[in-house]
Amino acid sequence: MHNWLIDGVAGDRIAVDDRGFTYADGLFETIAVRDGQLRFFDYHLDRLLNGARQLNIPAPERELFADEAGDLVKESEYATLKIILTRGTGHRGYAPPVTATSSRLLGLLPGVPPARTKYIDGIVVRHCSTSIGHSPATAGLKTLGRLEQVLARAEWEDTAITEGLMSTTDGYVICGTMSNLFLVRHGVLVTPDLTTCGINGVMRRIVLERAARIGLQWRAEAVPRDHLGAADELFVTNSLIGLWPVRRIADRTYPVGAVTRSLMAELAGAGISECAGP
Ligand SMILES: Cc1ncc(COP(=O)(O)O)c(C=O)c1O
Repeated sequence: MHNWLIDGVAGDRIAVDDRGFTYADGLFETIAVRDGQLRFFDYHLDRLLNGARQLNIPAPERELFADEAGDLVKESEYATLKIILTRGTGHRGYAPPVTATSSRLLGLLPGVPPARTKYIDGIVVRHCSTSIGHSPATAGLKTLGRLEQVLARAEWEDTAITEGLMSTTDGYVICGTMSNLFLVRHGVLVTPDLTTCGINGVMRRIVLERAARIGLQWRAEAVPRDHLGAADELFVTNSLIGLWPVRRIADRTYPVGAVTRSLMAELAGAGISECAGP
């Protein structure tokens, strides 16, 4: 059985001249599937369709994505749904086809729940030497071009280290290789500003909404990498994991503090059951 639908048809091959393949000319989403349900599907579609509009990639209606995704995941207890939307096939050369027809790929991928200790005790994180470049034209979007993240993730094999932080060449920390970053300083939640690079994560959006709901003050701002040592609490987020507290970066340790715990309780209340306390 094929786990992929390509333009609505079961299959697992794309054309060699698909611009998603030749130029990373497209977008993607990775969505948590839990008990046959797509978690925060609307938020993922918001980002995908806003991105398509911004890049001028024609996109089908939300309902089509919802129908195809619903069919794929309905019998799946724990998995990841990947959606890829590319500008479709085209001739050689960067110029987009005058009348592009996008390619739409939806795939159901197996998954394993992360260890509970990551939620309870937190994770160990390192700084990556691969920097993240400024790319204001696509900042915030989940574009297919992820080579910087690939290189950053290739920097370590030590399984005790769960995530690597990525910074700009001018020394501002932006994100993890697969996550958004948050700091708590004097009771205020701070997350790196993503105006010039980074992905505007769905879980980041949910954390900020939930912070506002519980009256927690938050700011998105430039975060110099050497300010992390002064943070009281640190955590990372993405759609598949929810939230993992950071326990240690190099020789600096952090507690799983009260703000992190209250946000985890909020996320648990929003349906991210992994974030529920022990
Ligand atoms: C570089 C990067 N930033 C942030 C995120 C978090 O995005 P989301 O919360 O939408 O999963 C991801 C997720 O894979 C990522 O790869």
